Amino acid sequence: MSSKDSVLIAPTHIAAIAPYQAGKPIEELAREFGLDPTQIVKLASNENPLGMPESARLAIVAATAHLGRYPDPAGFDLKQALSARWSVPQNWLTLGNGSNDILELVASALLEPGSSVVYAQHAFVVYRLATQARGARHLVVPAKQFGHDLPAMLEAIDATTRVVFIANPNNPTGTYLPNAEIEAFLASVAQRHGTRVTVVLDEAYN
Ligand SMILES: Cc1ncc(COP(=O)(O)O)c(C=O)c1O
Repeated sequence: MSSKDSVLIAPTHIAAIAPYQAGKPIEELAREFGLDPTQIVKLASNENPLGMPESARLAIVAATAHLGRYPDPAGFDLKQALSARWSVPQNWLTLGNGSNDILELVASALLEPGSSVVYAQHAFVVYRLATQARGARHLVVPAKQFGHDLPAMLEAIDATTRVVFIANPNNPTGTYLPNAEIEAFLASVAQRHGTRVTVVLDEAYN
């Protein structure tokens, strides 16, 4: 199938999606500019330039002993540990393959054509992509000093809004909202819209 065919058979809101541009691998940069890869310091994508902690490496090696079976899809052991660590019931927890997976799950579960999503200008790119992929409407609120303008985002919520995405800290602008502002925003959304609007507080970079 050519890319022309895929444009023809995909719904227009899917065909309009521009592929996500992931951080460029060191090896690709080295090839492009004829550089020595060992001399390149990559600061993008929140990767650890010091490498993986030894404890994480050993945990991965230990986990390979069970790779002959599918893992527990309910993640019982992990949920039990997280529930104890954060003092929340296990049925409040949803596990994902990275937080991106959770963002996509939220969009799949709550959005449809005709619904809308509020997010800030310059917010994490996946909010736009996940909204676009469900054919929902984008309510993009102009940034305030490159960050989220929460009072304006509150006002932007309309009768079709199902989801508000907030990245704190934000990627790519690195802005940060103090707890008090977030708590006031959450209280206002709940007071005005009840459970119709879900606020996703994305703390991937916290
Ligand atoms: C704000 C924000 N949320 C979520 C993610 C997704 O992270 P991951 O799927 O690696 O957990 C990123 C990654 O760049 C991000 O910047």
